[in-house]
Amino acid sequence: MESASSGHIVLTGFMGSGKSSVARVLAAKTGLTHLDTDDLVVRQADMSISDIFAKEGETGFRDREHEALKALIGEKPCVISSGGGVVVREENRILLRQLGTVIYLEVTAEEALARIGHSEGRPLLRGALTPQQLLNQRQGWYEGVADVRVDTSSKSISQVASEIYHRLRALQVI
Ligand code: S3P
Repeated sequence: MESASSGHIVLTGFMGSGKSSVARVLAAKTGLTHLDTDDLVVRQADMSISDIFAKEGETGFRDREHEALKALIGEKPCVISSGGGVVVREENRILLRQLGTVIYLEVTAEEALARIGHSEGRPLLRGALTPQQLLNQRQGWYEGVADVRVDTSSKSISQVASEIYHRLRALQVI
């Protein structure tokens, strides 16, 4: 695949795939800063994700998410955990490729749900589609943007972070 332009390491995948936790460990291992698109959106909006969905709908949230992602293009290389729905917009899939090396953390809908439980911060879990339907809809997009795919099933956060670390070393990304 073509080489990274902004030099970030970007974690994508479904809710509950472990993106934020793995990104924190990977940032510590590499000495890079960790940024999370959900955190950036919440800070910029000064509202929780649930409040943004309630007041502005999914479209408002996705607009904010796109702006947060775009702003990362000019930042020095860091480890980015992205929201699970970032891939639904084509403009974001293009941005992800421009941001750097994209890692897809694979998880089944069943395991994701077991990890998340009944999370208040994830409004789409109460939406029209079941988690399995959401995952089916997104799977091809996650695969399409990924440089590296990691199966996270039955693995701990530190195991997944180590696997990514070694694979990025082998690819000479870090
Ligand atoms: C979403 C995933 C969430 C958050 C928002 C929408 C989604 O992030 O961005 O609730 O559409 O899958 P996580 O993947 O970090 O849970």
